[in-house]
Amino acid sequence: MTDIAIVGAGFIGGVHARLIDSLDGARVSAVVDTDVEKAALLAGPRGARVAGSLDELAAAGALPAVVSVCTVSAGHADLAVRALELGCDVLVEKPIDITLDAAARVAEAAERTGRTVGVVSQRRFLDSSAALRQAIDAGRLGHLTGGTVESPFFRPQSYYDSGDWRGTRDRDGGGALMNQGIHALDLLLWFLGEAATVTAAASCVAHERIEVEDVVGAAIGFASGAVGTVFASTAAFPESGVRLSVFGTEGSATVADGRLTLRFADGEEIVDDSAPEGWTSIDWAHRAQYADLLDARAAGRAPAIGLPDGRRALAAVLGIYESARTARTVSLT
Ligand SMILES: NC(=O)c1ccc[n+]([C@@H]2O[C@H](COP(=O)([O-])OP(=O)(O)OC[C@H]3O[C@@H](n4cnc5c(N)ncnc54)[C@H](O)[C@@H]3O)[C@@H](O)[C@H]2O)c1
Repeated sequence: MTDIAIVGAGFIGGVHARLIDSLDGARVSAVVDTDVEKAALLAGPRGARVAGSLDELAAAGALPAVVSVCTVSAGHADLAVRALELGCDVLVEKPIDITLDAAARVAEAAERTGRTVGVVSQRRFLDSSAALRQAIDAGRLGHLTGGTVESPFFRPQSYYDSGDWRGTRDRDGGGALMNQGIHALDLLLWFLGEAATVTAAASCVAHERIEVEDVVGAAIGFASGAVGTVFASTAAFPESGVRLSVFGTEGSATVADGRLTLRFADGEEIVDDSAPEGWTSIDWAHRAQYADLLDARAAGRAPAIGLPDGRRALAAVLGIYESARTARTVSLT
């Protein structure tokens, strides 16, 4: 049985608890939150331990094998480093943290302790994403020439007002791209490779009392020569899902509404996202990322999505912010 402690008993901590509950050979052994009453709500029905910090768990001799970091974005690195130092493996929610220095501290601690770190980007585990990745790896799209991705989401003002960290520069680290669009941006980077330059515009047009963007767009020059675009918003009503296209010299692909359409000279192929009854495909993909981490630990291999991936997505987000701020093209290499 793999014991997992959830740190952060908020919205996504609750999702993690359900994912872990559904996995054979794993259980929520503890819930840690600075708000111990919130931790108790999640821990109680599972018979899990409640603590206000990881050190409190350590003092009680109740350290788990894996710590899942589900707290506000700016605190991810500190908690991941502490968990690693206490001898635990770590799954950290996106973004890895909000600065490259923080990401580097996690990498240094992982290296020093020899422990494993996975970074959540569950959309890679959707059937549509996996099938597109397979088609690209098999060379079926030919030479990749470019791609686009959009996250036209909607978050009412009440979403930002619901947590004192939401929409702040120093704790959320950004807005529509850092918090929401990073999922889709990570997919584009996964398919098209290293981003070399970004040229962006960003603004806050439809919300009050937030310090960050609610709409952002960028052109990306990839190291391969391919060109792409990313658009992210929390002010696009009515919200629709992520749309992504990848173009190549022998085939092209679009993912929209939970369906991948691959187009070739001789016809189309379609792959639909799937999930068992009672699950959304996104939660099912999130669960698959957990299963991958547990399998990676058992097999002594690296998890499918690790620190370099988390750092790469964060570097692209920060480069896009710098470009929007300075009205210049920013080099990421
Ligand atoms: N993968 C996804 O699809 C997804 C979805 C939503 C949120 N997230 C990520 O999850 C993280 C949390 O988001 P949320 O919406 O659950 O936030 P939330 O505000 O609902 O929950 C955060 C929790 O962390 C606790 N906390 C803060 N600092 C702590 C500390 N030092 N130690 C212990 N507990 C602490 C808070 O008390 C709160 O209960 C964010 O980084 C966000 O980007 C990921």
